[in-house]
Amino acid sequence: MSLSRHVRIVEVGARDGLQNEKVVVPTAVKIELIDRLSDTGLQSIEATSFVSPKWVPQLADAAGVYSAIQKKPGVRYPVLVPNLQGYDRARAVGVTEVAVFTAASEAFNRKNTNASIDESIDRFAPVLERARNDGIAVRGYVSTVLGCPYQGDVPVADVVRVAKRLHDMGCYEVSLGDTIGIGTPAKARAMLAAVAERVPMSALAVHFHDTRGQALANILACLELGVAVVDSSVSGAGGCPYAHGATGNVASEDLVYMLHGLGLATGIDLDKLVATGRWLSAQLARDNGSKVGKAA
Ligand code: HMG
Ligand code: MG
Repeated sequence: MSLSRHVRIVEVGARDGLQNEKVVVPTAVKIELIDRLSDTGLQSIEATSFVSPKWVPQLADAAGVYSAIQKKPGVRYPVLVPNLQGYDRARAVGVTEVAVFTAASEAFNRKNTNASIDESIDRFAPVLERARNDGIAVRGYVSTVLGCPYQGDVPVADVVRVAKRLHDMGCYEVSLGDTIGIGTPAKARAMLAAVAERVPMSALAVHFHDTRGQALANILACLELGVAVVDSSVSGAGGCPYAHGATGNVASEDLVYMLHGLGLATGIDLDKLVATGRWLSAQLARDNGSKVGKAA
């Protein structure tokens, strides 16, 4: 056991959570969500996504959201960008950290980004170059690290290869995503151990969806290997519109409860986080009930 004493949580609810809602959540609700999250002690809050609004209409208001949120000193607000166009849109509103994303499975990556893995990396190579010159931090995501909704099994060697490529290109951190929540602890541990042989553990994060109720168990298995950054989503919202059947991320409230129970520090006020999760659930129930701004 080599549990890190402090775990940094990357809160992805405003992006991974809201990108998968059936209705388009009003911009004002997104802004209030992020402002509330900023007051919980979280250090990283993924704010939104500058992808094609045709592909993800739920986050078409990315610029409006990012411009309006209160940026708390010491808190990072990364946003997803798939290409230089997304990077330029993000920079135009002052974004200081971006995340690029690809997958370990060719089939999923094509559904999600209309490109092979190599093509998606070619698209964001210029993003990394520009970011380096602009002093912008870049996080990287590898999806489908424990299985793919289209391809089925994903060889660990493919995960290792893609994660190492992102790290070598300049991603300061690579988040390993179980996009459809198919993994179990032994598989998660074996996958992380293999990646950590080629990418330093200090540059790795884990990202579990909770489709089959395995997320906390998988996270604990990975914490025991020494990972110290975990992605989660307040109230367990989330899913990828291009990974059918995938449900939300592990709930941030449950994760913080487990981490504090293990005696690990997060810097997060659990009561405030729980209140934010309840508030978000009420907003989503209301919006789903009224079908406000129904997504295409
Ligand atoms: P494409 O259609 O192949 O792109 O999409 P294109 O370059 O041919 O452009 C087509 C049109 O999109 C053009 O507009 C472009 O201007 C526009 P038109 O001429 O037709 O009017 N466009 C853009 N507009 C705004 N911002 C942009 C942008 N790029 C192109 N950045 C593309 C390729 C990658 C853009 C598209 O497939 C896309 O946006 N995909 C994103 C899908 C997505 O967001 N998925 C969810 C996030 S990933 C995830 O959830 C997994 C994760 O949580 C980890 C895990 O759980 O595993 C991170
Ligand atoms: Mg995800």
